[in-house]
Amino acid sequence: MDLISYVDSMRDNHLCELKELLRIPSVSTKSENKPDIEKAARWVADKLRGAGLENVEIIPTKMHPLVYGESLHAPGKPTILFYGHYDVQPAEPLDLWTTPAFEPVVRDNNLFGRGTADDKGQIHIHIKALEALQKVAGRLPINVKVMIEGEEEVGSVSLWDFVSKNRQRLQADALVVSDTAMLAKGVPSITYGLRGLNYYQIEITGPAQDLHSGVFGGAAPNPITVLAEVIAKLHDSNFRITVPKFYDDVVPLSKTERKSLNALPWKEKEFKKTVGARALDGEKGYTIVERLWARPTLELNGIWGGYTGEGAKTVIPSKAYAKFSTRLVPNQKPEKIAREVERHIRKLLPKTVRCKFELLSSGKPWAAPYSHPIFQKALHALETGFGNKAVFIREGGSIPFVTQMYDTFKVPCVLMGFGLPDENAHAPDEHLSLDNYFGGIRSVALFYEQLASL
Ligand code: BES
Ligand code: MN
Ligand code: MN
Repeated sequence: MDLISYVDSMRDNHLCELKELLRIPSVSTKSENKPDIEKAARWVADKLRGAGLENVEIIPTKMHPLVYGESLHAPGKPTILFYGHYDVQPAEPLDLWTTPAFEPVVRDNNLFGRGTADDKGQIHIHIKALEALQKVAGRLPINVKVMIEGEEEVGSVSLWDFVSKNRQRLQADALVVSDTAMLAKGVPSITYGLRGLNYYQIEITGPAQDLHSGVFGGAAPNPITVLAEVIAKLHDSNFRITVPKFYDDVVPLSKTERKSLNALPWKEKEFKKTVGARALDGEKGYTIVERLWARPTLELNGIWGGYTGEGAKTVIPSKAYAKFSTRLVPNQKPEKIAREVERHIRKLLPKTVRCKFELLSSGKPWAAPYSHPIFQKALHALETGFGNKAVFIREGGSIPFVTQMYDTFKVPCVLMGFGLPDENAHAPDEHLSLDNYFGGIRSVALFYEQLASL
């Protein structure tokens, strides 16, 4: 049987197996899910063994284990390192799911459940492609190293320690990742740029304790008012970020890149529909695609403090909090940006309050040329697997590991994403198109097969 007929004949088995993994609530941010994290790691290790990988190990880290496996029986052939993550985002708010987050089901040719698109469905694509190559040819045509981590969704905190201690073991000719999306349905895409991410939390303290707002209101500083004022000053009327030096190191898009990004088959109407707001906003002077992929942003992620329960409570709170983040583009330096953001916020604060400023995680931006011949192989495999023309895109999301690997090993990074922008990653009703899942397995199997002649 040839490769494609084999993977197509296995569809039902693949889907059924993926559902097993999706039923494990491996939420990396919650300590109560630690046993599930470990269960998911064991599950992944088992399936890697099943796909014919050797030296499969579950490697403990300071936080969550990573799973490693390899097959190095193709001397003289290229070696690739595949990276993905088995951890997922929390499923909350639970009541907004049509069916429970960890009880995967198919509706309208989409598989619903937390982790379907990000990233369990996508790692499964690679495991099944590798297994198919083993089954059909009896061996893998290239050398493969697989590393699947369990803390991507909390910033890949312990990963870098492992990588720096295992440089030799992880050495490869290329990094392959499926943790991104396609530009649109039917448009297979290779991502060559990601934004970096700094994530911050601030705590503003006014009075030493909560106060009666009638007795003290008018004289005591209110930390929520102060926080709201500071936040309002972080953007100007053109939606530019007011932090000094913030844009200093931003590499402007070249004319050619601007032209090619804006010529992609990207539909503003569809994007607007996905957003679902009355109108869009953003930095003046840039198209939406540019704003999303090649311009830095500052986003508020959460703000709280004071009384938020039922009914009224007259109080001046002692504390107010905000979580916010900056998405970064080449060549912004995360440490420098964090310094400038903190300095700016402290300057904006009145003397009436104290402020605790924390940087919770930090990751560099990435954009790389796609001239290496491996990209032509990837393009061709995607076009064969999906029967459609493939394109090169950038994206606004962040994958800390990709940047780190690119900086350390200077290898080509092939990001073939099989999600879609409207699949609700990180949100209720996350799903994965079954066409993309099965098309993904076909494409990746072909890609690995054809890499033998790179
Ligand atoms: N798979 C995403 C990254 C992604 C999403 C890239 C969409 C391109 C398009 C990844 O799991 C993720 O969510 N990353 C986080 C960063 C992390 C440090 C928490 C992100 O981008 O917010
Ligand atoms: Mn992901
Ligand atoms: Mn994610």
